[in-house]
Amino acid sequence: MEFDLKEISSLIKNKLDGYEFKAEGDEVGLVIESADGIARIGGLPNAMMGEMIEFPDKKYGIVFNLEEDEVVAIVLGKKTDVKAGTWAKCTSRIMEVPVGHGLLGRIVNAIGEPIDGKGPIKVEKYRAVETKVPGVIDRLPVDQPLQTGYKVVDGLIPIGRGQRELLIGDRQTGKTTLAIDTIINQKNTGVICIYVAIGKKSASIVEVATILRENGAMDYTIIVDASADDPAAMQFLAPFSGTAMAEEFMWTDHKDVLMVYDDLTKHANAYRMISLLLKRPPGREAYPGDIFYLHSRLLERSARLSAELGGGSITSLPIIETQKGDISTYVPTNVISITDGQIFLQSDLFYSGFRPAVNAGISVSRVGGKAQIEAIRKLSGKLRLELARFKEKESFTAFASELDDETQKQLKRGKILVEILKQGKHVPMPVEEQVVSIFLAVSGILEDVELTKIKEAEANILEKMRSSQKAVLEAIRTTEKLSKDGEEAIKSVTQAVIAQLSSSTHA
Ligand SMILES: Nc1ncnc2c1ncn2[C@@H]1O[C@H](COP(=O)(O)OP(=O)(O)O)[C@@H](O)[C@H]1O
Ligand SMILES: [Mg+2]
Repeated sequence: MEFDLKEISSLIKNKLDGYEFKAEGDEVGLVIESADGIARIGGLPNAMMGEMIEFPDKKYGIVFNLEEDEVVAIVLGKKTDVKAGTWAKCTSRIMEVPVGHGLLGRIVNAIGEPIDGKGPIKVEKYRAVETKVPGVIDRLPVDQPLQTGYKVVDGLIPIGRGQRELLIGDRQTGKTTLAIDTIINQKNTGVICIYVAIGKKSASIVEVATILRENGAMDYTIIVDASADDPAAMQFLAPFSGTAMAEEFMWTDHKDVLMVYDDLTKHANAYRMISLLLKRPPGREAYPGDIFYLHSRLLERSARLSAELGGGSITSLPIIETQKGDISTYVPTNVISITDGQIFLQSDLFYSGFRPAVNAGISVSRVGGKAQIEAIRKLSGKLRLELARFKEKESFTAFASELDDETQKQLKRGKILVEILKQGKHVPMPVEEQVVSIFLAVSGILEDVELTKIKEAEANILEKMRSSQKAVLEAIRTTEKLSKDGEEAIKSVTQAVIAQLSSSTHA
């Protein structure tokens, strides 16, 4: 079917010229063309950029381009939801999504509709997907930890509430797992979690939801899913919708919220797709130039509110997927410059068995240091130093055939440290146990244990601490310090465990 757009537009204009509109929101136009989730609409001369447009059957769109005779809207829903020839109405509203406690435990799409088959959500309130961000004086500096439960992160690259920390790495390096486990680790902390999935297969969302449910983490979590099958418009909108849900908890309930955007690479792709459909000129690496502004606008919404505003925070973990470890391309460099730090995950580490595959040497957290508890902060300086020394020695001695005793001893210590930092998935560690483990790593008391037995020793020591030294663990948790008595207790438990280990190997 061929339309002469100009002619149709002028026809509509003539037809509508006679009408007197009472309220702004009453403006009604006509869909001239609709394809690939993009609708060209005539007869809406007062439409605003970003305004929500209503179509028949409660379908919605967002104004993306204002042109001379038409407005162009992205359609939220299936690609075939809006047909040419149907009406389109201005709403005078920015796109809104349902917010509030009713969404907890649910999987919703980018416009907040349930997609988990668990029936309707009781909605009491809506919130605009884009709002003004808190200004500088409305914000508090970051000084409260948001623990991931991973020793290598909480020990070396600590994250604080209100911070934006990028998780970056190739596919299959453990990015999603790190984010999911951080959500699991928020159990009993009062932190609400929102996981936004962009452009993933539906099966992987089911998997994420199952893991969260099995670990009792779904009760305080919302999953916003714009899957690979959804139109680009939904994938584009999802992170903004999730953030609006987070903002409601922060501003109204003064809660701490953890946001995961998994991932912004696919978000950038969705935005590129929309821009190409709108025939906007491509910019660097074919991404529209305003992709930087888009992501900074999104991540600026993470904040910690001042006491005057009642407190509350949004911490965010945006994820970026790289190709062959290349972080110098357009979208990764943008997001690196927008965030407060980066955690680099590497394939070679992952395959060598060092999991989580975090390269601690190049990962940084620019604001989280103040958010560490004192016990960890005291140990982490030594941890960082020993790890750096080890990496240096390791590469120096890689080709040496004979090593003196002292060098061998230092290498062994480094290897013990690396063993201790390894951690399986979905078993985030409480902070007081992390203190014990990191103490084991840096104090040298496991020096005589065989490398292959380190993990077993660590597990046994923690087990024994839990059963016979409850008070010590409790004291670390409440005082956030490791006392001299605490150190002595760990040492004596360690000695007992080592004795047991060696008697079992010699038996
Ligand atoms: N710490 C870990 N220990 C063991 N396996 C892990 C760990 N982290 C991730 N994995 C596994 O590695 C695979 C890739 O992890 P995933 O988080 O999906 O990577 P990405 O999101 O970077 O593609 C998954 O099968 C996951 O279960
Ligand atoms: Mg992933």
